Amino acid sequence: MTVESKLLRLHVNGAPIDVAAPAHWTLLEVLRYRLLLTGSKQGCDKGDCGACTVLMDGRARLSCITLAADAVGHRVTTIEGLVTSAGLDKLQQTFDEAGALQCGFCQPGMIVAARACLDRKPEATRAEIKEALASNLCRCTGYTKIFEAVEQAVRAGKAAHIGGPAAMAPTASATGVAR
Ligand code: FES
Ligand code: FES
Repeated sequence: MTVESKLLRLHVNGAPIDVAAPAHWTLLEVLRYRLLLTGSKQGCDKGDCGACTVLMDGRARLSCITLAADAVGHRVTTIEGLVTSAGLDKLQQTFDEAGALQCGFCQPGMIVAARACLDRKPEATRAEIKEALASNLCRCTGYTKIFEAVEQAVRAGKAAHIGGPAAMAPTASATGVAR
């Protein structure tokens, strides 16, 4: 049986892109296996772990349970898209500095979910951070360092806001895109 491909016009990490994929493919499958954006992880593949979290129009979304066709007309941002010409996202830096990872498999989804949280609530409390990351599972860290990393980003944001040091030097290991 041949599976027919469908041409989709997506908008990923700031750019429009046309991609052909089977109509039943998820956004995660298209990202990983067509666009080779492997930062979003295929963990449980059924909406339980959060490893595949991306931003859709700025909101955290599980790409493993989102049809790629449903992403048409929306802005999708993956962990790779958080890196800009200015360097790593602040959360990518603070996760690295706080040592908020062991195997790192959960890290891209954690960072993306945390970014959605801080974009809405730049001064999020520990309770709000916990709630925002409640759908992201980590089997290694015990979560404390993850929460501390997000709080560190909150503090850095406040410092930048009042004219303190805004940026920390990017480090190569902090992109969260390990394959
Ligand atoms: S891979 Fe999507 S929630 Fe686990
Ligand atoms: S660091 Fe291993 S799953 Fe989170």
